[in-house]
Amino acid sequence: MSESARELLPFIEETARAAGAVHMRHFRNLAGYEEKGANNLVTVADREAEDEIARRIRARFPDHSLMLEETGGAAAENTWIVDPLDGTTNFAHGMNIFAVSIGFVHRGVPMAGGIFAPALGDYYFAARGEGAWRNGDQRMHVSRPRTLGDALLVTGFPYDRRVMLDPLMDMMKEALRHSHGVLRLGAAALDIAAVAAGDLDGFYEYNLMPWDVAAGAVMIEEAGGRITDFTGGVYDVFHPLTTVASNGHVHDELMLRVTRPFVEEIMRRRNAPA
Ligand code: IPD
Ligand code: CA
Ligand code: CA
Repeated sequence: MSESARELLPFIEETARAAGAVHMRHFRNLAGYEEKGANNLVTVADREAEDEIARRIRARFPDHSLMLEETGGAAAENTWIVDPLDGTTNFAHGMNIFAVSIGFVHRGVPMAGGIFAPALGDYYFAARGEGAWRNGDQRMHVSRPRTLGDALLVTGFPYDRRVMLDPLMDMMKEALRHSHGVLRLGAAALDIAAVAAGDLDGFYEYNLMPWDVAAGAVMIEEAGGRITDFTGGVYDVFHPLTTVASNGHVHDELMLRVTRPFVEEIMRRRNAPA
């Protein structure tokens, strides 16, 4: 890689802010939306923001690969992983919790990322080995709670959730039983950023995609937290089938009580013939 992770940050921020400007042109001003699949919405803002980001990356890094939610792409040695609008369901309904997420991954390792929530005015960013920040110079550190009983959690639900309703609700029950509470904000990239910032203590979700997690993964690690799959296995941003991100202290207890007991049932249903 010719540029260090830190040197990418100004480009990532400019690009994220340009995408955020696209969001805001359309926010609460949409003629409608389309459904890519059951409950899976897409709007003109998703597409325009993605075009804007792709154009900027191609112009600046012509030899890098792109993995874009709406138009696809593949992984290579240097890959930009982009969610042009995370939280589209919120966005399409007029709810202000949504963001753009841009992650840069080198040989499978998330190196740098930016997450911008334009309606909230928050910009989160991180570079491997350098740290994580919010809104310019606010250094991000994960939170202090050491037990699940003192933790405020956040989760999300996959679009194709019908077949998974029982294990998803079972996990939710355990999360509610053992914590201060469980939020469902509707934008996974922002959920992870909130854990990195120390505003929330733990996050778990089944069936995320690389663009939901690529920028957040480097933020969590640079803020002193931990990110794994549901059972504590090594996290692969290209295959984030199950994700647990936390302040590190509550991670083992979150897996023990909430995610690990249901992994087998989730996989059984996932692999069952339709
Ligand atoms: C979705 C959001 C949501 C999560 C879904 C994601 P999108 O992304 O992050 O919080 O629960 O799993 O697919 O479609 O709004 O980019
Ligand atoms: Ca997303
Ligand atoms: Ca999206």
